[in-house]
Amino acid sequence: MINDVIEISKTAGEIIRDGFRTNHSIEFKTNESNLVTEIDKKAEDAIIDFVKKKYPGHAIIAEESGEHKTTSEYSWVIDPLDGTTNFAHGLPIFSVSIGVQKNGETIAGVVYDVMRDKLYSSELGSGSFCSDEKLNVSKENNLKHSILVTGFPYNVYENPNAVIEKFGAFVKNSRAVRRLGSAAIDFCYVAEGVFEGFWEVSLNPWDICAGKLIVEEAGGIVTNFADESININSKQILATNKLVHADMLKILNKY
Ligand code: IPD
Ligand code: CA
Ligand code: CA
Repeated sequence: MINDVIEISKTAGEIIRDGFRTNHSIEFKTNESNLVTEIDKKAEDAIIDFVKKKYPGHAIIAEESGEHKTTSEYSWVIDPLDGTTNFAHGLPIFSVSIGVQKNGETIAGVVYDVMRDKLYSSELGSGSFCSDEKLNVSKENNLKHSILVTGFPYNVYENPNAVIEKFGAFVKNSRAVRRLGSAAIDFCYVAEGVFEGFWEVSLNPWDICAGKLIVEEAGGIVTNFADESININSKQILATNKLVHADMLKILNKY
């Protein structure tokens, strides 16, 4: 199955790469920051066609078209283009993110970083890889020596302080904080040992599904801010190398 997830992630990536820095029809979703382009939809259609042909009967949850319910124990959780704002503005940081669940447990995950042509993949119990290279989280245990990453939800303007106060506290307590604009890529950089930690206050199942498995199979941990294990329906996520988890939780719960 993982080879099929890899194949369709790359196909979707080609569609996105071909559409990069071309003219787009941009639509607003919940507000003027929350965009969807015709390329998001084209990539999603290609992935869904593939799943329906190759795995007829499997359920699908996809960002742009919603739930395609069936009675199958398998479900594909699809973000066809994670980082749409970057894509729409010509910033080359975005990905395809596809997770496959069996009875609610993620068994396979792929994140394709389109412009770097880096393919991150994982199967439950088999480790995480970027191409053929096995991934391991960072061994850094000092938050002051750590680089962290976060993202902002599209409704950030409703209560900016909830996000900014945490951001400010981490700026004071780490080496640096980044904000890349693709949650799936943020997870992969934790798995790869680049970032020690990634937090976000409000994500969706398609942002989390593949990335969470990739972090866990690289030796990391993903919880909510109460340090509870989570499924893909959790809004809050904290993904770390385990070693800075407790220190990050303290800050997340203080601000
Ligand atoms: C968004 C990105 C961003 C994160 C947002 C997500 P989208 O996904 O992952 O990094 O901060 O919360 O919604 O809309 O580009 O697929
Ligand atoms: Ca997303
Ligand atoms: Ca998306």
